[in-house]
Amino acid sequence: MLIARTREELADAVTALRARHGGLALVPTMGALHAGHLTLLSVARETARAVSQPAAPAVAASIFVNPTQFGPLEDFGRYPRDEAGDLGKLADAGCDLAWLPDVSVMYPAGDATFIEVGGPALGWEGAARPGHFRGVATVVAKLFGQVRPDAAVFGDKDWQQLQVIRRMAADLSLPVRVIGAPVVRAADGLAMSSRNRFLTPPEKARAPLLYAVLCAARDAMAGGQSAGDALTAGRDRLEENGFVTDYLALVENATLLQTDRAGAGARLIAAARLGGVRLLDNIASA
Ligand code: PAF
Repeated sequence: MLIARTREELADAVTALRARHGGLALVPTMGALHAGHLTLLSVARETARAVSQPAAPAVAASIFVNPTQFGPLEDFGRYPRDEAGDLGKLADAGCDLAWLPDVSVMYPAGDATFIEVGGPALGWEGAARPGHFRGVATVVAKLFGQVRPDAAVFGDKDWQQLQVIRRMAADLSLPVRVIGAPVVRAADGLAMSSRNRFLTPPEKARAPLLYAVLCAARDAMAGGQSAGDALTAGRDRLEENGFVTDYLALVENATLLQTDRAGAGARLIAAARLGGVRLLDNIASA
């Protein structure tokens, strides 16, 4: 696996990989890698195959804990970092290139450009975390410009983030296919997340309820209950079990606008705090 830390090293690595593979797919991450990230790597290799026939595409992963997507009171300082462990996992997973820029590479002195995002970025996470998607969109646009991948893979786990990035890539005519990869769950249903390590054992035992509540709301709507009633029952169940619910909602897939119609075009999304950890999850609504 090639490792690049400077723009020059990255340019050399990308040139070498393109000569060998043709196509290149990118998995942007903030590190603290878990099984969910490793699934993104295999989705990257499979789905980008089309752009680099007959060879399999090269797969690159970036690791950068992006300060601009954290609010002043958020957990940037305590976000888990494990570079050596991450590099070992990427190499074992067959990653071809790890891109490890530092802050001065991503935000050079005098930088003055940010991407303003509207539409799908406005509600939910965008409302709970002002400036978050501005930071995400900006860093992802920079990564696209640096690595110039044919395809980039993001987890469905951060559903709203995926829609914001899709919208940005379309609006700015960025020549990259944005691909979503299914949520990876533990056997008890808990969606994998780097922040799960901060759950205490009793919280960890309760955390899968978020997924159970989403599934129950989906099933209740399929059985004829109104979205409003199904979501109210879900919020009550979460609160009874010690969660503080930020939102539990039914939204249109791409716009994230609230809807009361479950079906192929709608997603159930949730964010709830359990102790000091904010859990996010989502499922198809039918
Ligand atoms: O989902 C993440 O890990 C981050 O938001 C991303 C897309 C790597 C941007 O920093």
